Formats: sequence, C-alpha cells, structure tokens
Amino acid sequence: MRNILVTGGCGFIGSNFIGYWLKKHPKDKIINLDKLTYAGHLSSTKAFSELKNYKFVKGDICDEKVVDRLMKGVDIVVHFAAESHVDRSIKDPNVFIKTNMLGTANLLNFALKHNVKRFHHISTDEVFGELPLGKGKFDEKTPYDPRSPYSASKASSDYLVRSYYHTFGLPITISNCSNNYGPYQDTEKFIPRMITNIMKGDPVLIYGDGKYVRDWLFVEDHVRAIELIIKKGKIGETYLVGGQTKDVNNLQIAKIILKIFGKDFKSNIKFIKDRPGHDRRYAVNWVKINKELGWKPKHNFDKWLQKTVDWYIKNEWWWGDMKKVSEKFYAKR
Ligand code: NAD
Ligand code: DAU
Repeated sequence: MRNILVTGGCGFIGSNFIGYWLKKHPKDKIINLDKLTYAGHLSSTKAFSELKNYKFVKGDICDEKVVDRLMKGVDIVVHFAAESHVDRSIKDPNVFIKTNMLGTANLLNFALKHNVKRFHHISTDEVFGELPLGKGKFDEKTPYDPRSPYSASKASSDYLVRSYYHTFGLPITISNCSNNYGPYQDTEKFIPRMITNIMKGDPVLIYGDGKYVRDWLFVEDHVRAIELIIKKGKIGETYLVGGQTKDVNNLQIAKIILKIFGKDFKSNIKFIKDRPGHDRRYAVNWVKINKELGWKPKHNFDKWLQKTVDWYIKNEWWWGDMKKVSEKFYAKR
C-alpha cells in the first residue's frame, strides 16, 4: 500500500490518472488536492469519488499549511496542478507564475520536509519552444526556449524540481509530454472546443492559417507513461512522452472531426485572429522512455479521436455549463 498525493486531480489528465491508478492499484490510497479553478471539475471524479481509498481536499498548492498537513506520511507525489492554457497566460500571466512556479516550490519544500520517496512532476513539450514545419524533434537534450508565459512558468517549475534533486537530494522524476486528447478535457482546448462547437451548430474556429502542428497523444497513453516512470524511472531523470500523429495540422484535424459529424469542411470553418507568439510545431522523440522503460503510444489517433467525439456526444451533462465559461473567456480574447 502506498500513500499518494495527486495535485490537480480534478483537471483533465489528473482525473484520468486517478481513475486509471485506482483501478490498477486498488490497495493504494490517493489524496487529491485541487483548488477547483475554472479548469477543475468535481464531475470528472464521479467514477471514483466514493471509493474508500480516495479522498478529495479542496485547496491551493501555494498554501503552506494545507500542503504541510497533507504531505505527512505521503510516499509519492504526482504533481499535475497548474494553470495550463496558453491563451489565458497571454491575458493574465501572474496566476501562471503563482501556481506553476510558487505552487511547485511550496510542494517541493514540504516533500523534502516529510521525506517523500518520489516527487513526479508533470511538464510539457512547450518548454522547448517551437520547431519549423517538417523538420526535427524535441528530445531530452534540447535546450529550453519557452515562448509563452505558460511555457516559461512550466520551464521554471522544471528547473526548480531539478534543483531540489541536485541540491537537496529530493528523489524526483519529470515527464514532458505533448498535446493530450480524450475524455474530460475542458471545452476551452482545441479538440473539445471543435467538437462542442459543431454540436451547437457553430463553426470550427481556426487560429491564423491553421497550419500549426501538435504531437497528439491519447490521455491514457500519457497516464501509462507516468505509471511506468513512477515504477521504473531513474531518480533525477527526465523523460519525453509523445504521440504518433506524424505532423497532422489543425486544419487536418478539423477536417477529420467535421467528417465524423458528416459536415462539409469549407463551409464549417472560420479563420480567426491568431494567438500572439503561436508556436508553429511540436514533435517529440520518445526513444528514451521506449528504450529504458518499454513505453510506446498504443492508441491509434483516428480511432481514438472518433471515440473521443463519441464521449462528448454522450456526455453533454459534463460539458454543457463549462462550455459557457469557455466561450465567455474567448469572447474577451
Ligand atoms: P487542466 O487545466 O485540465 O487541470 C488543471 C487542474 O489543476 C485543475 O483541476 C485545477 O483546478 C487545478 N489547479 C490549478 N491551480 C491550482 C492550484 N493553485 N492549487 C491546486 N489546484 C490547482 O490541466 P491538464 O490539461 O490536466 O494538465 C495537467 C498537467 O499536465 C499540467 O501541469 C500541464 O502543464 C501538463 N500537461 C498538459 C498537457 C495537455 O495536453 N493538456 C500536455 C502536457 C503536459
Ligand atoms: O504541448 C502540450 C500542451 O498542449 C500543454 O502543455 C498545454 O497545457 C495544452 O493546453 C496544449 O497546449 P496548446 O496551446 O497546443 O493547446 P490548445 O488546445 O490551446 O491549442 C491547440 C492548437 O489549436 C494550437 O495550435 C492553437 C489552435 N487552436 C486552439 C483553439 C482553442 C485553434 O486553432 N482554434 C481554437 O479554437
């Protein structure tokens, strides 16, 4: 039996992680510390919220008292909590600096104080900046070059986590993952926004020329990578985690999703103002985690994108109110 503190477990990846972990490791105990920001949804924890070995605590990772109390007796910390949306970081960088940098520092301090056996930090491929179209991939040796307040705050948190390993010997691991898709992703992110716009009879909104490339990965593949790193990863190491989509751009994804709904492409897309500093392309070389830990992405993009669309069609109860919050934010963007 292990005591695990998960931060941000009411968000997209955190809730998928807890659901997966408790099924596979029913003897473990999980405490989920989440502030329930606009991106945190108790409804995402419905499948496991009644389990005896699961406990939810509403609180802020920046709060010293709460973190000190919860960290006592914890074996493993899995740190997802963050402000995660690039567009919001352009509107209001401060909250990103506070949660992603100061919040991570607070967790590190108390993980050290209470001698946790593993601090796993969830990070992003965006810390590496952008790649040109069609050329190159990020790997563990790529220098950091973050270009948005979001990615800069995540890069800073990665540096802090590493510094606690080198300076204080805190047993850490880090994973930097590419774009996830799947159930329970907030409707402000690209794929759920497209699906729910189409369901509401609205056009799909494309930033700039739409020729931006992301390395899409089904969320359960990310969760499996985290599980493997926690079990077999080497202390102090960073692992990159990515997909198998081979340079599919935003326009091509819009085309696939519109086709699933039986809608014409040209008459259902609308080009809108681009994101300032929009990173052109991300692509991840995941050879290290494949060779050392035996991980690879299992979920085929076309099949699991279709399943993700089906999930949103069946679960309007989950996203209906959230959609209003997302579009209220976008109206002022
Ligand atoms: P999300 O925005 O869906 O969820 C974030 C969660 O953190 C929410 O439940 C929110 O309430 C909580 N939170 C925010 N501030 C908090 C605070 N101060 N204290 C406690 N809880 C707080 O994010 P996500 O997409 O699930 O991403 C989770 C992690 O994975 C983030 O660290 C993100 O940087 C990283 N990541 C995300 C992706 C992706 O494609 N979504 C890819 C790579 C890495
Ligand atoms: O690469 C990992 C990152 O992926 C994570 O670290 C972030 O937390 C996560 O939000 C995601 O960042 P992106 O900025 O890539 O994701 P987003 O869903 O915001 O946008 C994906 C692409 O779609 C990007 O090129 C912008 C574009 N876009 C987005 C929206 C919301 C559109 O063209 N139209 C839209 O309406």
